[in-house]
Amino acid sequence: MHKGDWTVPQEWHLYRADEHAMWDRLFERQARLLPGRVAPAFLEGLDILRLSKPGIPDFAELNARLMDATGWQVVAVPGLVPDAVFFDHLANRRFVAGRFIRRPDQIDYLEEPDIFHDVFGHVPLLANPVFADYMAAYGRGGQRAVKLGAIERLARLYWYTVEFGLLRSGDSLQIYGAGIVSSFSESVFALDDPSPNRIGFDLKRLMQTRYRIDDFQQTYFVIDSFEDLLAQTIGTDFAPLYQELAGSTDLDVATILPGDTVFHLGTQAYARSRPTHSSGSSE
Ligand SMILES: [Fe+2]
Repeated sequence: MHKGDWTVPQEWHLYRADEHAMWDRLFERQARLLPGRVAPAFLEGLDILRLSKPGIPDFAELNARLMDATGWQVVAVPGLVPDAVFFDHLANRRFVAGRFIRRPDQIDYLEEPDIFHDVFGHVPLLANPVFADYMAAYGRGGQRAVKLGAIERLARLYWYTVEFGLLRSGDSLQIYGAGIVSSFSESVFALDDPSPNRIGFDLKRLMQTRYRIDDFQQTYFVIDSFEDLLAQTIGTDFAPLYQELAGSTDLDVATILPGDTVFHLGTQAYARSRPTHSSGSSE
């Protein structure tokens, strides 16, 4: 049974040795791959939160450090929660996380986010004060979007930043989205593969863009910095934007527009090679 806020106890003592071993296996693989690819703030977060300690993190211990860093907490939930519940948690600096861990046969593909995606992928950046503020602001934006019937537009912002965002670093790019950093194969694909587009962050354009939930992204949006991302969103009233976009045609996942800042024009070769490929969306 969950409470009204859908949270459940983590019950850390119930994890089995093979489940802790799965965490360690996933952790070590990403820890080897990520330096040089991931935003430095992510690695700093791992350190601040001491996530390299073996085994599945105990939320009680993790939360003491996270609370000190930015006032955030991680709470366990049994699975996906209703939008309003999710937004309420974020607005109050609580990140909802699954408490189960994937089985060995699911190591590279998972339909529902597990504790490795949710905690390893999302929580390190919650120790960064600017990103922490962005996530709370997103929660407040979500509460407003519920009233305005605009969740679908706003969800694209989460998808293309929090889950699949890239960050510019001088002449090169880095990954920071949780969906990328928690995935061995996408950590490589998102930066190195010639297939996907990599284009500059543009809020209005992004809110018109569909996304893929079933395969690697066909377009990634690149931000200049977390400070810039926060500045472009926190002070913006999205209501006029939602109104402007109401009834407008969505952009296909691979579209490039004349006004786009193109860091890399994707070949889309990978997407075309896939059986699920279509010119439409997979949202
Ligand atoms: Fe996620």
